[in-house]
Amino acid sequence: MNWFIAFLKSSLGKKLIMSLTGLFLMIFLVVHLSGNFQLLLQDEGKNFNLYTKFMTTNPVIKAVSYLLYIFIFLHTIQGMVLWRQNRAARKNRYAVPVTKTSSFASRNMAYLGMIIFIFLVIHLWQFWFQMKIGGIGMITYDSHEPVNNLYEVVAYAFGQWWYVLFYVICMIFLGYHLMHGFQSAFQSLGINHKKYSPLIKGIGMIYSVVVPLGFAAIPIIVYLLR
Ligand code: HEM
Repeated sequence: MNWFIAFLKSSLGKKLIMSLTGLFLMIFLVVHLSGNFQLLLQDEGKNFNLYTKFMTTNPVIKAVSYLLYIFIFLHTIQGMVLWRQNRAARKNRYAVPVTKTSSFASRNMAYLGMIIFIFLVIHLWQFWFQMKIGGIGMITYDSHEPVNNLYEVVAYAFGQWWYVLFYVICMIFLGYHLMHGFQSAFQSLGINHKKYSPLIKGIGMIYSVVVPLGFAAIPIIVYLLR
């Protein structure tokens, strides 16, 4: 067990945690986005509300959710630790200076991560925590049991232009964070190949544009259709 803790504390272990948790969070984003697209069905939120009921009560998905919270925590803490270590190393006169050729995203990963974390706190407070403490009205469909009317909460939030703008801006930051994070995760896992690395970079680019664009489109469309 001691060797395992020592490995996690090593710089290789830290990078491994960052990459594996990051890849898991990227998969979560695709699932979350696909589910959220149901907000755009013109059914007064019926499908979306029944879907969130399933996602929050199914025992297997609930177990995966706990893993998700742990991974968000680990990714954030480890990111902060690495950022502090890199900053301290840069102050060291022997350290290699940051090259001008590095991208905006790679130079600002920690700041982008902190913005996304703040977004997440606000997001979870409004949509997730309120549901957990029973602060959301219930609605009944056909013969189903009453479910949280999350659609109403989301539609109300996205009915305000400044809230829509806040989401759109945060999704731009998310896009930059993913742009560097995607290829960096594969690099940390040692997947560095002449033939496959450009492909991974290309897929990462498409992912980092399409996923945040999808998340940004939802509040804009809900606002315009209300
Ligand atoms: C259009 C944008 C978004 C909408 C409408 C939305 C909506 C929601 C809603 C209604 C919930 C509570 C119900 C549920 O757990 O499914 C939720 C939970 C959550 N959201 Fe979002 N979300 C959006 C974007 C995002 C983004 C960009 C992230 C991450 C950067 C994110 C991360 C989360 C997390 C971690 C949870 C908790 C999931 C769980 O408990 O399993 N969301 N979201």
